[in-house]
Amino acid sequence: MLVLGVETSCDETGVALVRDGLLVAEALASQTDIHAVFGGVVPEIASREHQRMLPVLFRDLLARVNVTAQDIDAIAVARGPGLLGSLLVGLSFAKGLCLATNATLIGVNHLHAHLLAAGLEEEMRFPALGLLVSGGHTHIYRIDSPTKFSLLGRTLDDAAGEAFDKVAKLLNLPYPGGRYLDDLSQGVEPDRKLFPLAYTHNDNLDFSFSGLKTSVAEHLAKRPHLAYGAMPDADALQKNGALAMAEHSAELAQVAASFNFAVAETLRIKVERALERQAGLVSLVVAGGVAANSHVRAAMAKVARGHGLALHLPRPALCTDNASMIAHAGSLALRAGYRHGLDLESVPRGRAVPDDWTRLAQ
Ligand code: KG4
Ligand code: ZN
Repeated sequence: MLVLGVETSCDETGVALVRDGLLVAEALASQTDIHAVFGGVVPEIASREHQRMLPVLFRDLLARVNVTAQDIDAIAVARGPGLLGSLLVGLSFAKGLCLATNATLIGVNHLHAHLLAAGLEEEMRFPALGLLVSGGHTHIYRIDSPTKFSLLGRTLDDAAGEAFDKVAKLLNLPYPGGRYLDDLSQGVEPDRKLFPLAYTHNDNLDFSFSGLKTSVAEHLAKRPHLAYGAMPDADALQKNGALAMAEHSAELAQVAASFNFAVAETLRIKVERALERQAGLVSLVVAGGVAANSHVRAAMAKVARGHGLALHLPRPALCTDNASMIAHAGSLALRAGYRHGLDLESVPRGRAVPDDWTRLAQ
C-alpha cells in the first residue's frame, strides 16, 4: 500500500511517501528563515507559505520517484494540534486529492506521529512510556499500541521547546534557538544549582517551565553583557583584551549548560516517576524537536538503561516536524483498520484530538 503523508501543522511544509511501512521519499520546505525575522511563527504567513509550497513539493516528489497521483492508495494528513489556518491548507489539499483519486483518507494526530516516528528506523516495542517534547507540547503518555495512547501528564504553561526558544531570545540567539543553546553548552560543566528544577516538588506527572524561564530572565537581567553579540564590558576589554572575551563567552556557555541541565533533569524526574507508576512497560519513547537535544538524549538513554527498557529515540532530523512520520502513523492506523471520511476536521492547538475514525470491517 502506497501512503502519502502531508504535514502543515506549524512552519514546515512536508510531503512523504511510505510503501508497506518503508519510506520511499520525502520533501520538506522549512519556513524558519521567514519567521526568524519576526522572532516567532506568524500564523497568516505560515498558511500562505504552505499554500504556495505544498503543490510544488507534491509534484516534485511524485516526479522524483516516478509515481502518479493515481498510484496513491491512501492519504495521511496531520489534522492537529497545530495552527488552524496551516492545518486547513493541508487538510483541503488531502481531501481534494482523495476526491480526485479515490484514495482513502486518514487524519493523523501530529503528536502521536512524533512518538511513532522511531518506527521508521526500527521495530518499536509496546507498551511504551512516551515523552513528547516539542515547541508546543510537553506530554507523557502510556502507549499500548500505535493507535492507543493515554495521556498521563502535560505542561501547565510553556512547553519545553518554548522555554528553549524564549531563553534563546533573551540571549539574542536566532529563532528557533533550542539548538543554539544546545551547541553553546557542549563540553561545559553546568552549575546544577543556578536554575530551579521547576514544579518537581510535587506528586504529579505535569510540568511547568514558565518559572524556569523567569529565573533565567532574572539572571540575565543583571548581566546584560551576556546577550549574544553584546561586547564584554568595554573597560574590561581594554584592560584584559582576549581574556575578557573568553570570560564573557565562558559565562554565556555556563548559563546555557545550566539551563540545558535544568530542563533535562526536570524531564528525567517526571519520566522516572511515570515509570514507577506504570506496569508492564517494555520501552521508552522520546520524540519531538527537543528530543534532538543532546542533554535530553543522554538523560533518557540513562533512564532506559536503568529500568532495562528498550529506548526508541529517532535520529535528530526525524525528531523535528516532517511528513514521513505522518505517512508512517497513518499507515499504522490504516493497517489497524481505521480511516476517516471527507468530513474530517482539523483541531487547533489547545484542543484534544478526538479518536473519531471509522473502523473498516476486516
Ligand atoms: O517538534 P518540533 O519540530 O515542532 C513542533 O511541533 O513544535 O519542535 C520544535 C522545537 C523548537 O522549540 C526548537 O527550539 C526545539 O524543538 N529544538 C531543540 C533542539 N532542536 C530543536 N531544543 C533543544 N535542543 C535542540 N537541539
Ligand atoms: Zn511537531
